[in-house]
Amino acid sequence: MSPSRVAVLVGSLRRGSYNRMMANTAREVAPASLQLADIAIGDLPLYNQDLETDAPPPAWRRFRDEMRGCNAVLFVTPEYNRSVPGVLKNAIDVGSRPYGQSIWSGKPAAIISVSPGALGAFGANQHLRQSFVFLDMPILQQPEAYIGGAAKLFDEQGRMTSEDTREFVRKFMASFAQWIARTTRAS
Ligand code: FNR
Repeated sequence: MSPSRVAVLVGSLRRGSYNRMMANTAREVAPASLQLADIAIGDLPLYNQDLETDAPPPAWRRFRDEMRGCNAVLFVTPEYNRSVPGVLKNAIDVGSRPYGQSIWSGKPAAIISVSPGALGAFGANQHLRQSFVFLDMPILQQPEAYIGGAAKLFDEQGRMTSEDTREFVRKFMASFAQWIARTTRAS
C-alpha cells in the first residue's frame, strides 16, 4: 500500500517554536506508512468572504491545492489565551470555503498540543475538536497528546532530548497511522 500523505499544520510561526520542534520529532518517529508534508499557513491572508471570487488570493489557492493532495492532517499547536492561535484558526477557515468545497471533509486528523506551561495547551486541543465536528473530520481520540513543560524537552538545535516523550510521540504516530488506515478503509 502506498504511504498516506499527512499534512502537518503548526499553529506557531515563531522562530524557535517548540511546536515546530515537536512536528519535526513526529516526522522522525512516524511509521513508514506515513509521509509527512509541512504545509505553510503563515502567508494566508485573513479570511474575508469578499475575496472569495474567481481569483481568490494566490496563497489561499496554494494552500487549498496542497491540502487536496493530502489524505490526513496532523495539527501541532500551542494555545493562545486558552484557545486556538489565530493563524491556525484562519487556515481552518480558509480551507473550509468556498461553501461545499471544504478541503477538510472526511480527512482523518490528530492533534498534538504543546506548551511550556503545565497544562499542555489543553484549551487549544479541545477547541480544535469542536471545529472538527462541524468540519466532518474523524479525529483520533486516543491517545490524547497534551505536552507540557516543552522548554525542558529539546536541546539548542531543537532536537528532542526526552526519551520518554519521544517514545510517547512514536506510539501516538503509530496510533494515528492505524486510525488513518481504519477511517480510510471505512469510507
Ligand atoms: C501564550 N502562551 C500561552 N501558554 C499557555 O499554556 N496557555 C495560554 O493560554 C497561552 N496564551 C498565550 C497567548 C499569546 C498571545 C502568546 C504569544 C503566548 C505561551 C505559549 O505557550 C508559548 O509562547 C509557547 O512557546 C508558544 O508555542 P511555540 O511558539 O513555542 O510553538
